[in-house]
Amino acid sequence: MIQVRKVSKIYLQGKQEICALSDVTFSIGKGEFISIMGASGSGKSTLLNLIGGLDQPSMGEIFIDGSPLHGISDDELTLIRRKKIGFVFQFFNLLPILTAEENVGLPLLLDGIPFSQIRGKAIDLLASVGLGSRTKHRPEQLSGGEMQRVAIARALITDPSVLLADEPTGNLDSHISEEILGLLKNLNQAGQTIVMVTHDARAASFGNRIIKLKDGGIIEDVAVSGRAE
Ligand SMILES: Nc1ncnc2c1ncn2[C@@H]1O[C@H](COP(=O)(O)OP(=O)(O)OP(=O)(O)O)[C@@H](O)[C@H]1O
Ligand SMILES: [Mg+2]
Repeated sequence: MIQVRKVSKIYLQGKQEICALSDVTFSIGKGEFISIMGASGSGKSTLLNLIGGLDQPSMGEIFIDGSPLHGISDDELTLIRRKKIGFVFQFFNLLPILTAEENVGLPLLLDGIPFSQIRGKAIDLLASVGLGSRTKHRPEQLSGGEMQRVAIARALITDPSVLLADEPTGNLDSHISEEILGLLKNLNQAGQTIVMVTHDARAASFGNRIIKLKDGGIIEDVAVSGRAE
C-alpha cells in the first residue's frame, strides 16, 4: 500500500549537509500497525513527514496506493495528503478558537465542504473516540487525553489510507497514554493502517511490527507476536 524505496533526506544547514535518512527501503501493508523507534535524531520524524507528504525526499521514491509522492507539484502533493493521510502530533495541534466538532471537521472544511454536511460525521467520530459528550468544548476546556482523541478523530475524517502519529502519547501521563494506545489498537483492529513514532518500548508494543532506526537507517524490522500485558 505504501512503498518507500531507497529514500534519503539531506538537510542543508548553511554549508553543512545533515543526512537525516539514508537509503531507507520498506513497505507498509494495508492493515498494519507499525511502530517506528530509535534514539533522538535517528530520523523518525523525518521518515514520517516524508511518508505523509509534508516534505520531499532528497533521493528515492515513495508511493501511496500507487501514487508517487515525488516529482509532483506542491498542489498535487497537498491533495494526496488531504485525501490519503491522517496526521496526529505530540502537541495535538488543535485550533483553540474552534470547538471539538469544528476541529474534527476542519480537513473537510478546507476542502470547501459546508459544515452542515460535515457535522454529523464529526459528531459520530467524536462519539467513536469516547467524546460524544464533548462536541462543543474548545481545546482549553478539554484534558490532554481528550485533546488527543479530538486530534485522532480529525485525522480520521477523510477516511485516510494511513494514520501517521508522531509521539502521540509523548505529552500524556502513562495512564492516559494507555487509553490512547488502546484506542489506536482498536482502530487498527477495525482495519485502519497506522504508523506510529515512539520512544517508548511499551507504546511500541501496541503495534504489530517494530522498525528501529539508527543514524537515518533501518537496523531492525520485526513482527511483534503478542503484546506484553
Ligand atoms: N529542518 C531541518 N533542518 C536541518 N536538520 C534537520 C531538520 N529536521 C531534522 N534535522 C536533523 O535530522 C536528523 C533527524 O531528525 P528527526 O527530527 O527526524 O529525528 P527524530 O528521530 O524524530 O528525533 P526526536 O526523537 O528527537 O524527535 C537530526 O539530526 C536533526 O537535527
Ligand atoms: Mg521526532
